[in-house]
Amino acid sequence: MCGIVGYVGDKEATPILVNALKKLEYRGYDSAGIAVLSEGSLVVRKAKGALKFLEQRISTEIIRGSMGIGHTRWATHGEPSDANSHPHTDVAGKIAVVHNGIIENHAKLKSWLASHGVSFRSQTDTEVIAHLIDFHYNGDIVEAVVETLKRLEGSYALAVICESEPGRIVAVRKDSPLVVGAGTGENIIASDVPALLEYTRDVYYLQDREIAVLYRDRVDFLDGDGAPVEKELSHVEWDVAAAEKGGYEHFMLKEIHEQPKALADTLRARIRANGAKSIHLEEIGFDASWAEAGRVMITACGTAWHAGVVGKYAFERFARIPTDVDIASEYRYRSPLFNPKDIFIIISQSGETADTLAAMRMAKKGGARIIAITNVVGSTLAREADLVMYTWAGPEIAVASTKAFTTQLMCVYLIALQFGYLRKTIDGETLTRYIDALEAIPGQAERILANKGDIQRFASLSFNKTKAFFMGRLFDFAISLESALKLKEISYTHSEAFAAGELKHGPIALVDDATLVVAVCTQRALFDKMDSNIKEVKARGATVLVITYEGESFFDGTADEVFRIPPAPDEITPILSVIPSQLYAYYCSVQRGNDPDKPRNLAKSVTVE
Ligand code: AGP
Repeated sequence: MCGIVGYVGDKEATPILVNALKKLEYRGYDSAGIAVLSEGSLVVRKAKGALKFLEQRISTEIIRGSMGIGHTRWATHGEPSDANSHPHTDVAGKIAVVHNGIIENHAKLKSWLASHGVSFRSQTDTEVIAHLIDFHYNGDIVEAVVETLKRLEGSYALAVICESEPGRIVAVRKDSPLVVGAGTGENIIASDVPALLEYTRDVYYLQDREIAVLYRDRVDFLDGDGAPVEKELSHVEWDVAAAEKGGYEHFMLKEIHEQPKALADTLRARIRANGAKSIHLEEIGFDASWAEAGRVMITACGTAWHAGVVGKYAFERFARIPTDVDIASEYRYRSPLFNPKDIFIIISQSGETADTLAAMRMAKKGGARIIAITNVVGSTLAREADLVMYTWAGPEIAVASTKAFTTQLMCVYLIALQFGYLRKTIDGETLTRYIDALEAIPGQAERILANKGDIQRFASLSFNKTKAFFMGRLFDFAISLESALKLKEISYTHSEAFAAGELKHGPIALVDDATLVVAVCTQRALFDKMDSNIKEVKARGATVLVITYEGESFFDGTADEVFRIPPAPDEITPILSVIPSQLYAYYCSVQRGNDPDKPRNLAKSVTVE
């Protein structure tokens, strides 16, 4: 996720671009850049790091010009650096492009362009766009963009300017947001409404593949083939603070709702469907040699550790390989045994968690090979691991992790399934079945979110319970751990998770009529065991919420409330079954008057022990 802006009008563009980028910094903050058409030439300035470093860089010069584009980056391809910052230009520096999204066929386009003599200055997927536009440029930048779009696969919001065509910006989107703000004597584009509100409240929302051509005094709209289209103007009523959160009350709720897209982004480029469906992890350098491992060891902290617990079950189930999972702060201080054929999977949203990095370094020293799953390109974990698989979730602002967790699960499944396929513990037909199930997940997540009112209502009735227990078996145990953590982090309810089979070994002593028990019930072969556990806590006065599948009547009559999720294979279900608990924690937090985005005593990234 990145933020893009563009301005054409009668004022100086540079301060407007920088100011608009400030409103988009929540979309990415590892580098920023602008390109301004100044006295007949394109002036490009970029800087690694937060926007303030770009501001410092341009503070000693005056870049005159009333048209330009800008970008704030959340790296996906290529580490944060000056060279990888946007805008990117063609070889001659006459065409500048800013991009938000992922060009999935960039490697193919890159080698094609290289065979035509183009040399690249960055590791980004975006740079190919600038060169392709130049390749198709015959004196009309709009035509060149239309031709280029025909060759791009993936998601994009783009803004393009050309030195020889002053006074117009070409913008287009597909699967990434872009809004056009209509001003008086000026027009402006941005990834999101907050960046526009200081200049105008009249906006056009671009649909997929629609092109906007912005001039100082008008905006033309075209379809993807270049034919004119009519657009309706909308008036924005929200205030700026609400707009930054996309209209949601909190970043956490926004991030919960971003999961369908984040999951689709994390999955899409890793699946091929020419003939039989298959998983492709070559981008991370994962080949058959990795599948010869003798053991998989997973380490992480907090929510990322819960993704690791799901990973343990998935690796054992799909790849029939011994798999251990440990909390990084435990792992680093015990005396672990290493085998040169061990593979380590280290999971961390931030890629900067102190204990997680220490565990990784220990394993590396012991001779193990490391696969990192992280959300932050260029993080310490990403730099030091042997292979890196990115969760393409975009920046996660809320302290409580949501979209980072479910995209971590998506990565874990892709690696575990590919391991199984390479080790021949699952055949091609089974692999296709699971890929189909993973592809259905984003749509199914949307359906759960559409029913969030049911969870909100249940939260309004139960938010003041003094204790909450989450229980489940196998994959449901992992989701119970994550659900209990979410609730305690932001609602401050005393909540614990346990494997349901442990109920009689201790936790049942605490159950009384002040207790909420959430029973996660998605492991079909164990429904009757869960049913017995539910009856045991009900008999002691607990209120019980069951999370199970649509169309499943097994728990009707036993539970006080049943929340249903779309059916999926038992192993894959965790990506879905955690969403009701995320929503429950969020609504309880709000009901209790807390700020779910900034829970007391917690920090987003734990970079010290
Ligand atoms: C999750 O909601 C937490 N805030 C926390 O447990 C987090 O997952 C943990 O600190 C690990 O962070 P990381 O993924 O950045 O390594």
